[in-house]
Amino acid sequence: MSTDPASLYSRKNPFPAAHTVNRRLSGGASEKETCHHEISLAGSGLIYEVGDSLGVFPTNDPALVDEILRAIKASGDELVLGSDGVQKPLRNALWKDFVITVPSKEFLAALVLKAGDAVADIAALTSDPTRKKELESYLWGREVIDLLLAHPSLAWTAEEFAKCMRKLQPRLYSIASSQKAVGEAVHLTIATVRYQSFGRQRKGVASTFFADRTGEGVPVPVFVHTAKHFRLPEDLATPVIMVGPGTGVAPFRSFLQERKATGGGGKNWLFFGEQRRASDFLYEEELLALQKAGVLTRLDVAFSRDQPEKIYVQHKMREASAELYAWLEAGAHFFICGDGERMAKDVDAELHAIVARESGCSAEDAAAYVEALKKSKRYKKDVY
Ligand SMILES: Cc1cc2nc3c(=O)[nH]c(=O)nc-3n(C[C@H](O)[C@H](O)[C@H](O)COP(=O)(O)OP(=O)(O)OC[C@H]3O[C@@H](n4cnc5c(N)ncnc54)[C@H](O)[C@@H]3O)c2cc1C
Ligand SMILES: NC(=O)c1ccc[n+]([C@@H]2O[C@H](COP(=O)([O-])OP(=O)(O)OC[C@H]3O[C@@H](n4cnc5c(N)ncnc54)[C@H](OP(=O)(O)O)[C@@H]3O)[C@@H](O)[C@H]2O)c1
Repeated sequence: MSTDPASLYSRKNPFPAAHTVNRRLSGGASEKETCHHEISLAGSGLIYEVGDSLGVFPTNDPALVDEILRAIKASGDELVLGSDGVQKPLRNALWKDFVITVPSKEFLAALVLKAGDAVADIAALTSDPTRKKELESYLWGREVIDLLLAHPSLAWTAEEFAKCMRKLQPRLYSIASSQKAVGEAVHLTIATVRYQSFGRQRKGVASTFFADRTGEGVPVPVFVHTAKHFRLPEDLATPVIMVGPGTGVAPFRSFLQERKATGGGGKNWLFFGEQRRASDFLYEEELLALQKAGVLTRLDVAFSRDQPEKIYVQHKMREASAELYAWLEAGAHFFICGDGERMAKDVDAELHAIVARESGCSAEDAAAYVEALKKSKRYKKDVY
């Protein structure tokens, strides 16, 4: 259930929420910048369930907007069609409507038309569908501003530039709170995306919107994104196993708040992983307190960079193989959240290995066991 029937707000009509808390979770020595954010839903009528995500419409960095305007020699006052079909000043459209970081196909095509031989490399990559991967790797870390600055003599009208820009999409964040614990608020755990490429400091649009550009007087347009596939078991006595390294811990914080509020006695087991215990143990105090209070039955942590060899959550699962299998046999639901590229696949492989090892069955039978978990909605993923 994403919205109270009384609520006017949805993806089409996001609620202008107040960003009330922005607290850094990762310590000063960390290589990461992961933050705890709180958003007030007061007056919105929005309700969410644990497992849901919050959708957010960010705005772009105004400094980058200015730089682009200078590069195309525009004042920003020129009227263009925004992504909503409404005429507005170019500056506004670049700030709110368009993707101004990643170059679109349309922008590359216009660049090739204007710059000719000077961008023969881009022309060759964009005109040959078999070179898609090469194009991706050419564009990795390259933004619109780099291409504009590399070809300063090209003339762009405001209108043609705006026509090349794609619509800025909302970002999703796993909700890290239960309304039973926080009421008309929503908590998020966001890894701020900042990196260097081609000699420039880059910023992820939405994560730096939260980290740097919201706060008092700046509304954050939000909506609730329902995740029916990622729900706690209805039976409060059912055990749950949660694997959530990095920001993947977010929904499990909400699950634990919910389980604490509802009681019911179901056992809860969390696998958390990050780089270093001293600086990256997100929500350490809360998790240890939940463990002490008996809400978190078992907590296994894997700090990957505290020793020469990598230790990941799946290694901790392997160490606890027999008990993990016993929980599954007792009807536990198994959850994964976080990185979908590598972590979720490796955790899935370890789950198969545990089933095979502990039951003494073949790889095929282990696969059938895991498939049956999925079919009965006891194996749930929310990965990105
Ligand atoms: C269901 C769901 C739940 C999610 N939950 C969370 C959550 O709880 N917490 C969280 O932090 N995120 C979460 N995400 C991810 C989140 O939605 C955003 O994708 C993330 O915050 C990045 O968005 P951004 O706008 O800051 O960065 P963008 O502006 O989208 O930039 C990110 C892009 O920058 C590029 N990039 C990144 N690093 C480099 C590099 N080193 N070199 C070159 N290019 C690079 C990549 O192309 C990358 O895709 C979730 C995603 C989904 C789908
Ligand atoms: N789309 C985006 O722009 C965007 C933005 C933010 C985050 N993300 C992605 O979201 C995911 C979560 O990021 P995060 O910063 O919260 O944490 P993360 O990068 O997933 O790191 C958390 C922990 O997982 C470890 N890890 C790395 N590979 C692993 C594997 N194969 N199996 C198990 N653990 C592994 C890391 O170790 P090491 O680092 O020591 O290897 C670290 O200790 C990542 O995929 C990240 O790339 C994407």
